[in-house]
Amino acid sequence: MEKIVSLCKRRGFIFQSSEIYGGLNGAWDYGPLGVELKRNLKDYWWRTMVHERDDVVGMDGSILMNRAVWKASGHEETFTDPMVDCRTCKARLRADQIPQKNGVPQCPNCGGKDLTEPRSFNLMFKTYVGATEDESSITYLRPETAQSIFVQFKNVLDVSRKKLPFGIAQIGKAFRNEINPRNFTFRSREFEQMELEYFCRPEQGMELLEYWKEERLKFYEDIGIAREKLHVLTVPDAERAFYSKGTYDIEYEFPFGRQELEGVAYRTDYDLSQHQNASGKPLEYFDEEAKQKFIPHVIEPSAGVDRTVLALICEAYDEDTAPDDKGKQESRIVLRFSPRIAPIKCAVFPLLKNKEPLVAKARAVVNLLRPHMNVFYDETGAIGRRYRRQDEIGTPFGITIDFETLGERGDDFRDTVTLRERDSMKQERVKIADLVQLLVARIS
Ligand code: GAP
Repeated sequence: MEKIVSLCKRRGFIFQSSEIYGGLNGAWDYGPLGVELKRNLKDYWWRTMVHERDDVVGMDGSILMNRAVWKASGHEETFTDPMVDCRTCKARLRADQIPQKNGVPQCPNCGGKDLTEPRSFNLMFKTYVGATEDESSITYLRPETAQSIFVQFKNVLDVSRKKLPFGIAQIGKAFRNEINPRNFTFRSREFEQMELEYFCRPEQGMELLEYWKEERLKFYEDIGIAREKLHVLTVPDAERAFYSKGTYDIEYEFPFGRQELEGVAYRTDYDLSQHQNASGKPLEYFDEEAKQKFIPHVIEPSAGVDRTVLALICEAYDEDTAPDDKGKQESRIVLRFSPRIAPIKCAVFPLLKNKEPLVAKARAVVNLLRPHMNVFYDETGAIGRRYRRQDEIGTPFGITIDFETLGERGDDFRDTVTLRERDSMKQERVKIADLVQLLVARIS
């Protein structure tokens, strides 16, 4: 993990939030490469979960909502973690994460054994809406995106005129005042979720739970996470929310252990029923054929953007050897991102920066590719060094413009370039005119 955290900072994937002031625990900023990676992940999720389906529409809800939402959903009452204090060093700890020594719980900070009894700590960030700070103006930063989908269910149903089963998808920020943020971005206080609420008839619930588990596993494979590093945990009855008829956690083998990436939960009709009862507004679905009204059931695949970005970086990180400019093997760090989610798809290099025709041709290739993908132009340093810099940030393709491109070695190779593939380091000679089609096919 240390190597990954250091690479993330060095190359501009992830920085500590407010770093120059000593940081803020549980908050992170994404740098120039991190934001591209994150965007590619969210775009691919949206593409496969919304655009490529007839039965899902999207929405973008507000982070602040009426407090009544959080009362009805149960969050105000029960969205808590058990917390204990260490009386010696005053650390606040999550009761279920305290290590034991010889069967005795010990503070992981100072080793102290004098701990308080566990008490419930609500994870929602409380805030006040408007100029008066009193009981009537309290609300919370949303701890999940799901609730805005439930409370807008009727509006979306009316405008989209979808028939069951259908889903509403959302990507957005969520906030939880975690007692112990840890493992880099894995457990943060501010993070993003990609959630789908897939509404169905009660009798379809169990089957759709299986369907979505499989779809979601396929998604992770499609973005480059090896199937053998993914695990499905069937959440035991005792640990499931009381209203859930079945929940799977999709876990990934992070360097710090096997941990949850996504939950796929069958939440029955709990959420819509709660909001219907609390608001007094009907949230039923009318089945025209059966002439029946009922509250739909829901399957919820809920994924963390930041956790998936971290998994992508962990999965991609590799060290191997590559020849330098003189053919001598040297070690290299390489991020083996799937081209689909790589922050930069292609780097373009003129062989020499002081040869105007090479530079002009390279610039022309950049302009040709830019409408189709994120391209990086680099003219400084030996060509091997330039490849190495791109390997380290996971750029899958490198294009070199050389004297053959200019036709100086005969017409056969005029307007062709060298295309180098990051993982195999194989090079092929490709016509400039074929580049767009060839690369677009490899990155989509
Ligand atoms: N609406 C259901 C829900 O929010 P959850 O299991 O609490 O379920 C879903 O959260 C996903 O959100 C998790 O699988 C994880 O990927 C992400 N997530 C939850 N808490 C997080 C945190 N503190 N930091 C980063 N990601 C988090």
